[in-house]
Amino acid sequence: MYLKALILAGGRGTRLRPLTYTTAKQLIPVANKPIIYFVLEQIRAAGIKDIGIIVSPETGENIKAVVGDGSCWEANVTYVLQEEPAGLAHAVKTAREFLKDSPFLMFLGDNLIQGGVDGLVSEFKGGSCDAVIQLKKVKDPRQFGVAVLGPDNQVLRLVEKPKEPPSDLALVGIYLFSPAVHAAIERIKPSWREELEITDAIQEMVNSGCRVEARVLEGWWLDTGKKDDILEANRVVLDEYARYEVGGQVDEASQVVGRVSIEKSARINNSVIRGPAVIGEGTVIKDSFIGPYTAIGKGSVLEKVSVEHSVVLENCSLFGVERIEDSLIGCNVRVSRDANRRRAFRLFLGDDSEVAL
Ligand code: TTP
Repeated sequence: MYLKALILAGGRGTRLRPLTYTTAKQLIPVANKPIIYFVLEQIRAAGIKDIGIIVSPETGENIKAVVGDGSCWEANVTYVLQEEPAGLAHAVKTAREFLKDSPFLMFLGDNLIQGGVDGLVSEFKGGSCDAVIQLKKVKDPRQFGVAVLGPDNQVLRLVEKPKEPPSDLALVGIYLFSPAVHAAIERIKPSWREELEITDAIQEMVNSGCRVEARVLEGWWLDTGKKDDILEANRVVLDEYARYEVGGQVDEASQVVGRVSIEKSARINNSVIRGPAVIGEGTVIKDSFIGPYTAIGKGSVLEKVSVEHSVVLENCSLFGVERIEDSLIGCNVRVSRDANRRRAFRLFLGDDSEVAL
């Protein structure tokens, strides 16, 4: 069976403003690597080469600039413009010309799962289902699409963000579909939020007699839609993948402890870097403490600061701030505190910024 893949990298990204005013959320780095790169790697590891990427008019060009034609992954990438973020099923409808009548793997471009999709794809190829959905047990199912299963992992019912959840199995943003999904999408109507919902399309498949099965994921699932989700993703990914690798310069007054990756031409002076952590290319760190679960992007300068459990993007300058924790800082940001410690804070923040002092 020949499978294509469809990555959904459109959407509004409102919950990640202000970062998403200037970039796509799928490009926000986790452990200094854009999330969509992990998605592309997982798709390629499952042997799929033909990849369509849904993009929005606002951030499509950014994504094209970063992902290109897919040759870095030995893949053929086709971009599909979705004019409005009118829902996940609408995205599939928009991609019909790319998908043709091929079965396909659909992967939300801001989701990651432990262990990849290889197993799921092989099972789908070997079976006779019209759809296979990935589920994960969650503590509070009310904020997710939730599935009710019958015998043999068969999906009986799907409910979007239920007030009284009928199960604790949430839909992870990874699905496999036969072309039967297209007819189901044609039959559904937009939801109360004016979106064509993929849960409605899958329910329509179940109602019309298609075989829809689910697999429950044992490992981690990361959905990087909000600030704390990005920090959590950064923590989990650093925990799993960080290695001790010093490509830059560390002076004798500094200490690098644990799994720390210092990329080329970075410089560490009189500082402690405690892993798991990653320091980007050309970044300079002086008289500072960089704590665990922190990723500092390239071209930044950090002096007299301590930073823990945080993600700092490129070209930032952080100076004299004793303790930065649980923070997500965009590109070209300057944070400084003068030595006189004046009482007043002077802020110049973009729309929708958040500061906790
Ligand atoms: P969501 O996170 O549900 O939506 P969003 O990106 O609009 O974010 P927010 O709620 O913060 O405004 O989308 C999940 C993924 O699917 C994400 O990678 C964006 C993508 N997507 C599309 O490509 N097209 C769409 O129409 C929608 C709704 C989402």
